[in-house]
Amino acid sequence: MVRLNASNPLAHARALIADLALRETCCAGHGERVVVIAERIARRMGLSEHDIEAVRLAAELHDLGKCEIPDAVLTSPASLDREAWDMISAHPTIGARMLAESGDPALTEIAPYVRSHHEYMCGKGYPDGLVGERIPLISRIIALADAYDAMSAPRPYRFASSHPRIMDVLSGEVGIRWDPQVFLAFQAVMQADPALAVKSPPPAIAAWGLSPAGDPAQPS
Ligand SMILES: [Fe+2]
Repeated sequence: MVRLNASNPLAHARALIADLALRETCCAGHGERVVVIAERIARRMGLSEHDIEAVRLAAELHDLGKCEIPDAVLTSPASLDREAWDMISAHPTIGARMLAESGDPALTEIAPYVRSHHEYMCGKGYPDGLVGERIPLISRIIALADAYDAMSAPRPYRFASSHPRIMDVLSGEVGIRWDPQVFLAFQAVMQADPALAVKSPPPAIAAWGLSPAGDPAQPS
């Protein structure tokens, strides 16, 4: 199990995230975009500057635990079998443990937010199946930003979706997966700054019948 370097755990965590970006090439820039969107949502919701900083850090490091997932699973073009799914769905727990054991107060603080970034309001997320407001607000914000960006980029197992298509899918999941207040803030952010919206995928890709991105059986 990877342990963050005690002398500079944040630099080590960032190096692991950079390494992950090289391995998971389909997700280039994902972390940075999640940080931007999550921060905008948090500001719109009026979170304190302290909490906004926690949002930024947790969004940046939300997939840290993927550093322990082998390439064969992480970049598999096929649907995940049970064993691979068990491995990949452990990444929030692994990342949270690494942060909690880092000895760095800022990283320790965000560990629960990283742990819960794949929870859904209905309780069918993971790893704990938390329901509604038992999911930390910061995790609920990151979850939506993460889902939006993940759906905008192709994955080995599905095509990219356009902004209108993503908004359509996400709005149908409000109250089920996404916090209604977080979604309202997200919508307002997107309306206020259309430059944040993903560009439409190439027509050849858009022409395919897009599979519903965010399939619960596949991690983002
Ligand atoms: Fe994740």
